[in-house]
Amino acid sequence: MNLLHLDASARTASLSRELGRAFVASWRRHAPDAGYVRRDLAAEPVPPITEAWTEICDTLMREEIIALDRLHEGARTDAQRQAWAVVEPLLTELITADVVLITTPMYNYGVPAALKAWIDQVTFPRMDLGHRRFVVLAARGGSYAPGAPHAGVEHLVTYLTDFVTEHYGVPAPRTLAVDLANARVDPLLRDRRGEHDDSWRAALAGIDTLAAEVAAERRAA
Ligand SMILES: Cc1cc2nc3c(=O)[nH]c(=O)nc-3n(C[C@H](O)[C@H](O)[C@H](O)COP(=O)(O)O)c2cc1C
Repeated sequence: MNLLHLDASARTASLSRELGRAFVASWRRHAPDAGYVRRDLAAEPVPPITEAWTEICDTLMREEIIALDRLHEGARTDAQRQAWAVVEPLLTELITADVVLITTPMYNYGVPAALKAWIDQVTFPRMDLGHRRFVVLAARGGSYAPGAPHAGVEHLVTYLTDFVTEHYGVPAPRTLAVDLANARVDPLLRDRRGEHDDSWRAALAGIDTLAAEVAAERRAA
């Protein structure tokens, strides 16, 4: 069993990173033999895809190559092989993972560019990630709880959920989100600090159960 841990916040004092550290500490207790790979997408950014990458993708589509262990066959020219050299380590980490932990801030209602660049690099037509499971731990400046005025513009957890289910063909990720993080800094949200603290405590309190459940589910699979 392998865990791939992706961090995406530009901040080091990041709430989503802290949730991730708590998850990994619990995970190690519940899955002591699991392999572990961490990639910090903010500290070591993945570059955007290039034209050569799109050519690889077109070849895979045209020739209906979808098996994960055959995707490299789409790289034919020197430029495409160079593009594949970026993809290859990222894709290997994804394919060899059983559980993918994504920690992420909300930026501008959606995923940070650092995380989107990774998704773009490792995603190919009609992908089936089979037994793999995703966990998303998110931090958001505002409130997106069901019924909140901004609930309808939550394009972070909803996007990641839609994406992995629709494109990777895996079940919906297990998710935890901390809301109203901006109450720590924004004077206009000062009166909502208590709500944020509650949200933060609830997220932290849910981490150990989440890690235990994901580890048990993977072991049973
Ligand atoms: C560039 C940027 C854009 C942001 N956009 C939003 C946003 O659209 N909605 C929101 O609720 N919070 C937004 N925030 C606040 C972050 O989601 C919040 O600070 C969160 O805690 C960041 O996660 P982190 O603590 O893991 O870094 C934004 C923050 C930054 C730096």
